[in-house]
Amino acid sequence: MSGYLAWNEATARAVIDENRAAPGALLPILHALQETFGYVDRAAEPLIADALNLSRADVHGVVTFYADFRTAPPAAHELKLCRAEACQSMGGDRLADTARRRLGIGFGEATPDGRVRLEPVYCLGLCSVAPSAMLDGRIVGRLDDRKLEALLAEVER
Ligand code: FES
Repeated sequence: MSGYLAWNEATARAVIDENRAAPGALLPILHALQETFGYVDRAAEPLIADALNLSRADVHGVVTFYADFRTAPPAAHELKLCRAEACQSMGGDRLADTARRRLGIGFGEATPDGRVRLEPVYCLGLCSVAPSAMLDGRIVGRLDDRKLEALLAEVER
């Protein structure tokens, strides 16, 4: 599970204050907020705008421009399935369909209960044991129906 704090304004203000003097403070502040809460809450945007004398639109524009910034709390688990060629040719597509169907979400989405996020990756460097997956940073090679079921059971616990 994550070690992130739940969003709260007092901590957000402290994080903004700590970083406001940094050169080009906007990005350091956004990174620090994401490291603290796991994402950049929309409610942080006016606080940042006030601290840096920017418009809220400017801040929002930067948050949404960079794909690295999450705007919603991260899911508890992240399941990555390799969608690149070697894995596809070894049955990766069918396994991806199974994962999507079982979780009821598409790639780039999280389940509504926040339990798991499904992400595509394009080669994990494990083509020799394709198809490959990664659960919370743990690599899984030679993925098959049985292993996928085990991973899904793990995230559903
Ligand atoms: S293509 Fe999937 S690990 Fe290389």
